[in-house]
Amino acid sequence: MEIEQAYILNKLSAPIFGILTEAADALSVEAYVIGGYVRDLILHRSSKDIDVVCVGSGIELAQETMKRLGNKAHFAFFKNYGTAQVTYKDTEIEFVGARKESYTRNSRNPIVENGTLQDDLNRRDFTINAMAICLNKDRFGELIDPFNGLSDLDDCRLKTPLNPDITFSDDPLRMLRAIRFASQLGFFIEAETFEAIERNKQRIEIISKERIVDELNKIMLSPRPSIGFELLEQTGLLKLILPELVALKGIETKEGIGHKDNFSHTLKVLDNLARTTDKLWLRWAAVFHDIGKPRVKRFDTKLGWTFHGHEYKGMKMLKGIFQRMKLPINEKLPYIEKLVSLHMRPIVLADEEVTDSAIRRLLFEAGDTIDDLMLLCEADITSKNPEKVKQFLYNFQLVRSKLKEIEEKDRVRNFQPPIDGLEIMEMFHLPAGKVVGELKSAIKEAILDGKIPNEYEAARAFLLQTAAEKNLSSGDL
Ligand code: CTP
Repeated sequence: MEIEQAYILNKLSAPIFGILTEAADALSVEAYVIGGYVRDLILHRSSKDIDVVCVGSGIELAQETMKRLGNKAHFAFFKNYGTAQVTYKDTEIEFVGARKESYTRNSRNPIVENGTLQDDLNRRDFTINAMAICLNKDRFGELIDPFNGLSDLDDCRLKTPLNPDITFSDDPLRMLRAIRFASQLGFFIEAETFEAIERNKQRIEIISKERIVDELNKIMLSPRPSIGFELLEQTGLLKLILPELVALKGIETKEGIGHKDNFSHTLKVLDNLARTTDKLWLRWAAVFHDIGKPRVKRFDTKLGWTFHGHEYKGMKMLKGIFQRMKLPINEKLPYIEKLVSLHMRPIVLADEEVTDSAIRRLLFEAGDTIDDLMLLCEADITSKNPEKVKQFLYNFQLVRSKLKEIEEKDRVRNFQPPIDGLEIMEMFHLPAGKVVGELKSAIKEAILDGKIPNEYEAARAFLLQTAAEKNLSSGDL
């Protein structure tokens, strides 16, 4: 692949690059834009994070740059790491001196020494991320590409610059980065690099859960997340990170009856959903929606394979998974639990006659997640039979319009019964306890079943009648 010099010069025409040139030349240090910014520039992807490496002190170059940007820019530096950060408008520039690094076996923290540009490029993760463009005036725009990153970009190839065993052992997070880039960019992982991931997978254990989740999130947000999850499975990493998902894999046959591979199904659902939503946590719900299946799988001579109650089993498994993976328990667990536990409901509804009361109940239980639930359920239709798919999607349309109609009429989404426990206690001079709970839930059930409207007067009349049946007197009311 050839890259036009004019193209690079055009991409580096923003004033900030001129300022970086002046600063580097004033200090007489070699300076380069490096890594992801160069990769994205060639791929025509926009990026606001510029990494600058200089053969000298990154902090001094950042200070020299600051002098030219004045008080419009913000400066921060990290003496221990020898790095500095300049934020200018919406661009963040990270400065660091070129280094040679070596790693110890049990930590990602390297022993750092000053080095040449070549040393610095050697220690990077992939050839496509190991390119630099010179910023000094006399060589401005010159591309340094010692590992043929440009042709790997052209061939959509992910490959480590050095022996992959060294690159991955230096920083095992890179195994996940390889898979993430493959998923994000639609690239393939070159065979030797792939095999090294298989060999070194166990080293993922020294990586923090937060970093792992960060990469998983990026895989999840890529256009076809299944690419990443397939690779995670094939390399053996998924078994170490999310064994519950690997347990979905496989087909069993008994008496000539098989069931679908729930792992491939899950990935199809995820890809389907990726076409209709960018919501990260809704996509996570797709990953988890059938997670309970292996634990409830049964073979019945009449029914064949069944997965009864997998949605509840799956919901129950989520907390442990969230805890282990340090996923955001407080913010996201209840949302995913709701989606997983309810994901069979619209399908059942669409399959049978759609009654008002069933719709009301679904609305009540799903609350504000109802729209996301419908998207998940539509994505869950992965049948290969186009007639069946058509029929399901049509029925879902019915469910959707019915949901809209009932919502407008009854406002049951997030509803609280119009009479609360306190009022019931006062009305019947009751202490807090079982009876109050029963009366309260009788009102709720009557509204959800459509026996009474969701209004105060109707609820009160119904309450008095129910209480009379229970021989409760309403005292002075
Ligand atoms: N890098 C590396 N090993 C890592 C992380 C980063 O070698 N584990 C190098 C790569 O050269 C990478 C650069 O540091 O291009 C910048 O890293 P980062 O900003 O984390 O990632 P990007 O490659 O820019 O990609 P993205 O912004 O999509 O994360």
